[in-house]
Amino acid sequence: MKILITGATGFIGGAIAYELGVRGLLSSAIFLVRAPNRVEGLERLVSNLQKFQKKPLTMQVHQDQIVCADMSSIDAVPMSAWAGVTHVIHCAALATFSNNPKIWAMNVDSTVALAKAVSMHGSLERWLQVGTAMSCGPGLASPVPESWAHGSDVKPHLVPYTQSKIAAEMALKELPHFPLVVARPSIVVGHSQLGCAPSPSIFWVFRMAVALERFTCATAERIDIIPVDWCASALVALCVKPTLRHDLYHVSAGMSRANRFSEIDAAYAKASGAEPISNRYQQVALEDLRSLVPLFEAKLGKVNRILILRALTLYGAFAKLNYVFDNQRLLDEGIQASPTFASYIDVCVRTSESIPMLEQMAYDFK
Ligand SMILES: NC(=O)c1ccc[n+]([C@@H]2O[C@H](COP(=O)([O-])OP(=O)(O)OC[C@H]3O[C@@H](n4cnc5c(N)ncnc54)[C@H](OP(=O)(O)O)[C@@H]3O)[C@@H](O)[C@H]2O)c1
Repeated sequence: MKILITGATGFIGGAIAYELGVRGLLSSAIFLVRAPNRVEGLERLVSNLQKFQKKPLTMQVHQDQIVCADMSSIDAVPMSAWAGVTHVIHCAALATFSNNPKIWAMNVDSTVALAKAVSMHGSLERWLQVGTAMSCGPGLASPVPESWAHGSDVKPHLVPYTQSKIAAEMALKELPHFPLVVARPSIVVGHSQLGCAPSPSIFWVFRMAVALERFTCATAERIDIIPVDWCASALVALCVKPTLRHDLYHVSAGMSRANRFSEIDAAYAKASGAEPISNRYQQVALEDLRSLVPLFEAKLGKVNRILILRALTLYGAFAKLNYVFDNQRLLDEGIQASPTFASYIDVCVRTSESIPMLEQMAYDFK
């Protein structure tokens, strides 16, 4: 088995590389990394791996496991780089809610270019495409089924990113004899043991909703959140399991592990030594978020009001969907259910204490 990992310098890809190390599979892996040379590529990978372990890293990765490449120029990579590759976890993406003009080229065109190159010059047995559960588009009822039926005909999506992710899946599905398995994670927040230390992505939304005591969802509704370590472990399992029953899976909390906002509020309050906000909380319609602008300065300090309103509108639109993603297929493959967000939110709170909320937010708008 020779596993190619893309995106290992990012949040989920880093957790995947670490999980391979935990399973003793790191020496079977090669990593596509953006870097001018292998030395710097290795440094980038190792420094990201270190974020997933408190103690000094003992895992070994070597320079010859690094393929220096930018996804935008896959054709420039020598074909020999893909020789013997049997498995791919394709995690690299422009994972942004902004209108970055490079989204389509990266998430669709470059993905297909890499898939063609590896299937032509490697010995491909499985391509695990890391998608996003949100690519099903708006307007569905929970639990959202694990299905190819939704999302590709939705125009427009809430953001170009989710549209590009489903377009990539559809394009890969068209490739002849291509061993595609799609894994769609739900919302990844923190690490079950390390909290927000590896990445603060999305946690600022909860901090902001608590500070404002207002957001777009009702407290009785559920939200499907998973920790990055569990997500990575499920993705690696889907990659290496010799046979799978399906070609599409949600990597999600599902109905049994998705918390209600009221449960998240209670756990957050307990962790921060404050009162839950449930009694004072006001649900705000997406189109009325603008009415919160006068509150920003009082509750959040001196902020860029336009940026905060834009951020709340983007994330509020997704939160308002109240999606819980069915994960029965994953459970039926023998993969253990995710921990609930409420069960590890304390460590997210602790690891965020010294980091200003707006600094955390900037991570998702880079
Ligand atoms: N985070 C979530 O909540 C979530 C939920 C569902 C699905 N997903 C999916 O999970 C995957 C990873 O997301 P993430 O949150 O871990 O994102 P991330 O932290 O932003 O990481 C993105 C990775 O992609 C790499 N990349 C981007 N453009 C590249 C290019 N042109 N050439 C080579 N590599 C490139 C980045 O490399 P550099 O370090 O060089 O920039 C980085 O390693 C994505 O496919 C995303 O759609 C994420």
